[in-house]
Amino acid sequence: MIKTQTKIRHKYSNSEKRGFFVMDCIEFMQDMSENSIDLTVTSPPYDNLRDYKGYSFNFEGIAKNLYRITKNGGVIVWVVGDRINGGRSLTSFKQGLFFKEIGFQMHDIMIYQKKNTPFMRSNAYTNCFEFMFVMSKDKPKTFNPLKEKTVRNGYEMLTHNKKSDGVNKKVLKELKKEKTKRNIWSYAVGMGGTTSDKIAFKHPAVFPEKLAEDHILSWSNKGDLIFDPMCGSGTTCKMALKHGREFIGVDISEDYIAIAKERINGCQLTFL
Ligand SMILES: C[S@@+](CC[C@H](N)C(=O)[O-])C[C@H]1O[C@@H](n2cnc3c(N)ncnc32)[C@H](O)[C@@H]1O
Repeated sequence: MIKTQTKIRHKYSNSEKRGFFVMDCIEFMQDMSENSIDLTVTSPPYDNLRDYKGYSFNFEGIAKNLYRITKNGGVIVWVVGDRINGGRSLTSFKQGLFFKEIGFQMHDIMIYQKKNTPFMRSNAYTNCFEFMFVMSKDKPKTFNPLKEKTVRNGYEMLTHNKKSDGVNKKVLKELKKEKTKRNIWSYAVGMGGTTSDKIAFKHPAVFPEKLAEDHILSWSNKGDLIFDPMCGSGTTCKMALKHGREFIGVDISEDYIAIAKERINGCQLTFL
């Protein structure tokens, strides 16, 4: 008897599902097992800036559920900006503080810089960035640092370890060719920058594929489970698939999930 009940619950549990789902993300997460997600890369709708179909956003409910379903050592990348008209809304900061209050560690605050931006302001400098809050439940269990080229390379006379005689000896040494990337990441946005998938732009707020890709490579390994509770056009899911991760993408809008599925179908053979 007990066996049958377990089986039924198991069959309908969202924690077993993979792929795309049209649903309110809180409802979806409530049916997921705790400690089941390795990495979430997502961007919420903020400050009513865009007209999303079926919009409904309960930030605190989403944050608490994300905490419950994230594995110990799992990471959340929360890409968020502020409404700027009439001064900055500081929605981003309020959300960051709430995440910390409920137990997440604010592992890093990174900047997503937009290489091209049309939003000029007459009385302030042009805003060209959003925040990427990198939060972890406990210490991050995975970090695969991405590298960038060093500005100087080749050989140079470098200071050698001082001995007790206090003399700074210099020796000819090769400079490092690369170093761990810094935490401001710049991406071109728009067609060809954000993505080359024309269909993705039917969604009003797609983030760059490269942004999702860079975080997936940094904070997860092959075979890990990647989650986007508000996946829109499916950018995070596409990049998870590209790099051999499993994914779950949820969005409240059927139209956006249709876009996400079409994007994934277009690239599945290339990736696998
Ligand atoms: C900023 S967009 C995400 C865009 C996505 N990162 C991409 O690259 O296409 C936010 C998304 O949240 C979805 N959304 C809003 N409320 C939601 C909810 N309660 N549950 C699930 N999705 C929701 C919207 O439909 C919208 O697609």
